[in-house]
Amino acid sequence: MISGVLTFLSIGSYAQDNNGSISALLQDPLILFYITAGFLFVVSLLVIAVALYMLQVLRHMARNAAMERAEKLGIEYKEEPSLWAKFDKWTTDAVPIEKEATVMLDHNYDGIRELDNHLPPWWKWLLYGTIIWAVFYMIAYHVTNSLPLSIQEYDNEVAYAEEQVRKLQAANPGAQIDESTVQLVTDAVALSDGKSTFNNICASCHRPDGGGDIGPNLTDQYWKHGGSIQDIFKVVKNGVPNTNMVAWGGALSPEKMQNVASYVLSLQGSNPANGKAPEGDLFVPKAEEKVASDSLKTQASL
Ligand code: HEC
Repeated sequence: MISGVLTFLSIGSYAQDNNGSISALLQDPLILFYITAGFLFVVSLLVIAVALYMLQVLRHMARNAAMERAEKLGIEYKEEPSLWAKFDKWTTDAVPIEKEATVMLDHNYDGIRELDNHLPPWWKWLLYGTIIWAVFYMIAYHVTNSLPLSIQEYDNEVAYAEEQVRKLQAANPGAQIDESTVQLVTDAVALSDGKSTFNNICASCHRPDGGGDIGPNLTDQYWKHGGSIQDIFKVVKNGVPNTNMVAWGGALSPEKMQNVASYVLSLQGSNPANGKAPEGDLFVPKAEEKVASDSLKTQASL
């Protein structure tokens, strides 16, 4: 039954999360489960209501039968206290009103008098319970440290999440590459992957040798958007708005974009015949980039 309530609550919050859209809920693969659980919840409520009613009827009949029998035998019928009355007596241990005089204290404040009832057992046992719990808590959380405190629970969860991230990254290296972490890669496998990407989709505008056609010449030192590996990665990923250079970030994985950007840089200085005239500004790579792109050229010519 509790799970039924939770299910109802979760449907409520689920719909709210999606700005009240029911369609998102309908697409949920668990929808059948939600409906079944909700249905079972309603049915169990009905069953309980009917059972309670039947119990009531049975008690009434039993009471009438007992009264009739008592009458036949000529004895006085004394009703059994109801379950609720027993429960009430057991939990509160209060002196019945007709016997209150026995626990009445002497003092009298302008007509307000005080009864000397016992502490209600429900309250007393709750108190003992909290004391027992406190001892258990103290030992488990602060003496033996066998259960984690909130801060430890938090650290555990963070550690778990970080572990998941590490696993994901290990399973899919390169998925994290973006314009700030992109590196000029020089290994032959990556460059040949970059080359095939370039020939498949970039060559139609930049020519297979990078000499430029619809798009600019990519082999000279002049760039409209910068000539560092980061700049090129960014242009490939995001494109240049309102030009034929569209964004490839959706079609190419970050790793493929890193490879093709590295391949583009490997074309630097190849000076193909009939290359397009330089466009943009002269870009002078920083020293370490120059070393990297020189090693690229040696590799590409291998
Ligand atoms: C449909 C034609 C087209 C295709 C396909 C295309 N480009 Fe471009 N590209 C252009 C145009 C046009 C520009 C110039 C944009 C501008 O005016 O700023 C450009 C600009 C660039 C630049 C910036 C050049 C500079 O001077 O800063 C790079 C780098 C580049 N493209 C690389 C690529 C790569 C890599 C691919 C393949 C993934 C590709 N392009 C595919 C048309 C294309």
